[in-house]
Amino acid sequence: MAKEKSVYVCTECGGTSPKWLGKCPSCGAWNTLIEQASSPAPTGGGQNRFGTQFAALAGASELAVLSEIEASDVARTPTGLDELDRVLGGGIVAGGVTLIGGDPGIGKSTLLLQAADALQNAGQLALYVTGEESGAQVAMRARRLGLERSQVQVMAEIQLEKIIATLDANRPAIAVIDSIQTVYSDQLTSAPGSVAQVRECAAHLTRFAKASGTAVVLVGHVTKEGALAGPRVLEHMVDTVLYFEGDTHSSFRLVRAIKNRFGAVNEIGVFAMTERGLRGVANPSAIFLSQHSEPVPGSVVLVTLEGTRPMLVEIQALVDDGGPSPRRLSVGLERDRLAMLLAVLHRHAGVACMDQDVFVNAVGGVRITEPAADLAVMLAIASSLRGKPLPKGFIAFGEVGLAGEVRPAPRGQERLKEAAKLGFSVAIVPKANAPKKGAIEGLTIHAVERIEQALDAVRGLE
Ligand code: TYD
Ligand code: MG
Repeated sequence: MAKEKSVYVCTECGGTSPKWLGKCPSCGAWNTLIEQASSPAPTGGGQNRFGTQFAALAGASELAVLSEIEASDVARTPTGLDELDRVLGGGIVAGGVTLIGGDPGIGKSTLLLQAADALQNAGQLALYVTGEESGAQVAMRARRLGLERSQVQVMAEIQLEKIIATLDANRPAIAVIDSIQTVYSDQLTSAPGSVAQVRECAAHLTRFAKASGTAVVLVGHVTKEGALAGPRVLEHMVDTVLYFEGDTHSSFRLVRAIKNRFGAVNEIGVFAMTERGLRGVANPSAIFLSQHSEPVPGSVVLVTLEGTRPMLVEIQALVDDGGPSPRRLSVGLERDRLAMLLAVLHRHAGVACMDQDVFVNAVGGVRITEPAADLAVMLAIASSLRGKPLPKGFIAFGEVGLAGEVRPAPRGQERLKEAAKLGFSVAIVPKANAPKKGAIEGLTIHAVERIEQALDAVRGLE
């Protein structure tokens, strides 16, 4: 018999290493490798890979010509929560597995209980497995949500085998597992909550979903770095990955699809957390603006495109005298990109912030990843540095390249129209985004090709 071997598994990403290392070779996290007895490759197909001796035993599978396979559209069941359906691409899909992540207290359990109840009311059997809270706690939440008469089936259970047996006996249309980190299997030696357990349990639940047609929703915790524990392994396994975003201090929550085999990614759902649960915000374009009675330096409104909807988000910058090693901090925007934008500002527009602390923030806890935010960020920085506000009703968007060129943003017309609709009156945008024919009513548009032109245009407006 082979000697019992151990491997070192990263608690952050699930990466493995044959020997202990201070730094995980897969994700680069420090001090995250823990020793584990290496179990035989647990996925059923594992052994077959060893080759020919097994090939003789297994029956060969049939092949099909791609063009002859009927492409049936997946049937979706709307959850009844419009904003959730929007991120899901129309509703839940039978046999589909969704992973939903987010900070503690952001509203994952609330959203899923509401969705389960809505589905149950629509005549679908919904089962809610709670591993973090007791049935009584779930009932208390339901009461708060005004769902005290809910017919959703609740099970307080954390053992995988029991959960799957119950699901199999009841065959619900949707099963919510809250959360996947609390589920453990007896078959595995590793500790509950460890990456190996999470991965295996998720794999079993995924297999069950595919075999039974039950839509499974897994709730996943987010580590302090903002990644789902064992993210890579879970993300590739499931069909849809949704992330909750937002500032727990503000009432708005975004649910973003970062992977969706059944729909568009980068679609977002917007909710407001109210006294009685999460309520969809159908028209979210103006919720991330803070209310200044007069324009203030360092504030620029960006028109960003989230999925299919333009949204206006205030970008704030504060530039202040720094010490010997000035700080660059960004909330809701990428920090590496900030460093790059500062270099471009210096090199191409002569705006120097080398000895200054620079802080930038996207208001409302929204996370902006599109490069079309560049121009707004740079104008906010320049405005803060000079202590001069931009004019009232000002918006900007556009990507800025290393050569100082301002590149167009996708779907510029829609962005401009949304801004005009909300009463904005002055815009600095990339040349290619300026309307070709006709003007947009109420909006004065300054089209620019380079960052220095944008700063000149701003001075002209003062
Ligand atoms: P919860 O869904 O338990 O978060 P998660 O499962 O992501 O950890 O949400 C908890 C927070 O939401 C808690 O701080 C209270 C707040 N909340 C409301 O404001 N209104 C409500 O109706 C409910 C149920 C919760
Ligand atoms: Mg919860």
